[in-house]
Amino acid sequence: MEFPAASALRGNFPWLGLLLADFLLTLWIPPTTAQFAIVSTSAVEGQDVILHLRNTPPNVRGFIWFRGEELNYHNFIGSRPWYSSEYLTGPQYSGREEINLEGSLTIRNVTVKDQDIYFVVAVLPNSQRDIEFGWLRVYRE
Ligand SMILES: *[C@@H]1O[C@H](CO)[C@@H](O)[C@H](O)[C@H]1NC(C)=O
Repeated sequence: MEFPAASALRGNFPWLGLLLADFLLTLWIPPTTAQFAIVSTSAVEGQDVILHLRNTPPNVRGFIWFRGEELNYHNFIGSRPWYSSEYLTGPQYSGREEINLEGSLTIRNVTVKDQDIYFVVAVLPNSQRDIEFGWLRVYRE
């Protein structure tokens, strides 16, 4: 199964050919002063955690969440468009995650297995994207 954001990018910019990699780099590392980010968070097993976002870009159209070091379908947790309370879920969705309206990710009843690097893609108008990461640390009591 193909990761939907990747196919959307290809579909929108088929003519860029070899320049695509350069183009993606400029899309994904925009020259913003206030850096969009996931607020790295620590928690104790059994807690409910919210991975908050800071400096969310204006006019954001949706959010796509991943865990793990690669942005591939296997690591896809879920995505939520701005106009809907319904979202798609992927292989890393365990039933405890929820993508909130402002883009943050709630994970209920965390365990040490939830400790990981998390990525969020903010989907912006004109097929632009802003991608950032943060860490969740989970301690045993
Ligand atoms: C939290 O998760 C543990 C297993 O990791 C489970 O035993 C427990 O029942 C869960 N608690 C709630 C409130 O879901």
